[in-house]
Amino acid sequence: MKGVVLAGGLGTRLHPLTKVTNKHLLPVYKMPMIYYPIEALVQGGIDEIMIVTGGNNAGDFLRLLGNGKEFGLSHINYTYQEGEGGIAEALRLCRDFVDEDQVTVVLGDNIIQKSIKEHVDAFRAQGKGGRILLKEVEDPERFGVARLEGDRIVEIIEKPADPPSPYAVTGIYFYDAQVWDVIDSLEPSDRNELEITDVNNFYINQGAMEYSILEGWWTDAGTFESLRRATEFVAATGANNPD
Ligand code: G1P
Repeated sequence: MKGVVLAGGLGTRLHPLTKVTNKHLLPVYKMPMIYYPIEALVQGGIDEIMIVTGGNNAGDFLRLLGNGKEFGLSHINYTYQEGEGGIAEALRLCRDFVDEDQVTVVLGDNIIQKSIKEHVDAFRAQGKGGRILLKEVEDPERFGVARLEGDRIVEIIEKPADPPSPYAVTGIYFYDAQVWDVIDSLEPSDRNELEITDVNNFYINQGAMEYSILEGWWTDAGTFESLRRATEFVAATGANNPD
């Protein structure tokens, strides 16, 4: 199993905090934001990790993280995303690194209370297809939202004005090697990005997508409000807790 952390983008929703640095280098309680998704992967038993970054501050990631000694890693892989082509385009840059393996993808601004280990293990056992983690939230219109029929997930709608359920699709995704062909088949969305929601809907339409409901808190940290919440949550309980 390979791990990918997506830490590109311009973070415009956090201006002026992100005017001279990358969003994922901003502090969340005692650590830079990107420490949490890396720790999540390592805690989940994944030690082959690639970080996708971009913008003017890409070199700062190397200075900050080096070869990942602080996380018990012997090596970290880096790649560079030019511009803002979307989450799926950022993931495409990891194709050679992941190759025929399975991959766990974590968005660099997603922070969670509990370990993802059981979900990584469930996806290993699943063997093929995709897997996503859902979380019930009060403001689903900010996220990709799952439409469920009984226990079945039938569609994900990106930032719906009228959410079909309270279940947000968190930024933790599991894919088999089919994902590379799926990304190649995508057309850019109205905001001119390759959308991860289109990747997920492809797997859903094939009947190849499994999901779990995430326990414990989950938050993104890409807006002032969610960044504040992330800091408060981490200060209260810590993140990536094994039990
Ligand atoms: C992205 C995804 C969305 C997902 C969210 C999780 O949104 O497009 O489906 O629910 O991450 O953090 P973004 O934060 O890029 O607006």
